[in-house]
Amino acid sequence: MRHFLEIDDLSADELQWVLDMSSRAPEAAPRVLQGSGVALVFEKPSNRTRNSMEMAVHQLGGHPVYIRPEEVGMDVRETAEDIVRTLACFHDIIAVRVFRHNHLERMAACAVAPVINLLSDDAHPCQALADLLTVSQCIGLDRIERVAFVGDANNVWRSLAIGCAMLGIPSTLAVPDGYGPSGATLDRIAALGGECTVTDDPAAAATDADVVYTDVWTSMGQEDEQAERLAAFGPYQVTPELMSLAADGAIFLHDLPAHRGEEVAAEVIDGPASRIWQQAENRMHAARGLLAFLAGSAPHGAALAGSAPHGAASAGAAS
Ligand code: CP
Ligand code: NVA
Repeated sequence: MRHFLEIDDLSADELQWVLDMSSRAPEAAPRVLQGSGVALVFEKPSNRTRNSMEMAVHQLGGHPVYIRPEEVGMDVRETAEDIVRTLACFHDIIAVRVFRHNHLERMAACAVAPVINLLSDDAHPCQALADLLTVSQCIGLDRIERVAFVGDANNVWRSLAIGCAMLGIPSTLAVPDGYGPSGATLDRIAALGGECTVTDDPAAAATDADVVYTDVWTSMGQEDEQAERLAAFGPYQVTPELMSLAADGAIFLHDLPAHRGEEVAAEVIDGPASRIWQQAENRMHAARGLLAFLAGSAPHGAALAGSAPHGAASAGAAS
């Protein structure tokens, strides 16, 4: 049984397989979830993740069930283990958005169904799949030279940086002092052979980058820190001037929701370099590719004929 708590739960070959499957038209998607339920559990709000997952499950022939924050009561109404064991009575795959990443690890350890991370405080690997799919479509994975992330070393940055490392794409993070990545994350990236530079200078990061990416300065659950974060990240706004330093043909990406006038200027996010709507749509295509992959390891899921790389070497695969 396979889980997807961080993007390197796939091997590099499997990541490429998921991206290839995500590129197939929805009508050509294998109906590997026919007769299966997929639970979508949310401890935090969502627009893109909920809708993209629901549609992807539908396109694979399955039935998605949304479970809203009040119904979860993680470790309050019942334990994370009891939640996942209950849901596995009805569903073949269990996808969960949580605050604490450890709740996902505890659910996966029950080994009753594949668990998908729909965002935790630490990681957002479904977003990273869509980001890499967008880069492959707009620039090409064999042509891109560097991704620059300007902002918080948060869940979105981490999964993207690990994904870039897996595909051999150098990345640079521009982040103010005190908001940078942990040594453990940088070690994880290095262990994958990734080249990730950290600076406090947004201009240095953006110069000659093919992708300039940013995310909110205050993530869900950090609302109490908003005032100090606004002050610390003020000089890190992605402005037209910053974009002008990037490579010719560079694109702007943002996972959304966005705050115009904070992490990004309206002229950039709504301007010609922005690919945010293609990126948002790609959440659904990437979710379909991922679900097709995991269906092969679900208790009742149908294995894909032929090309599924299950059983291929999978360095970081959780069991
Ligand atoms: N990008 C993203 O995960 O958006 P939602 O929080 O709306 O799902
Ligand atoms: N970093 C943001 C991402 C939202 C999709 C958050 O965690 O709130």
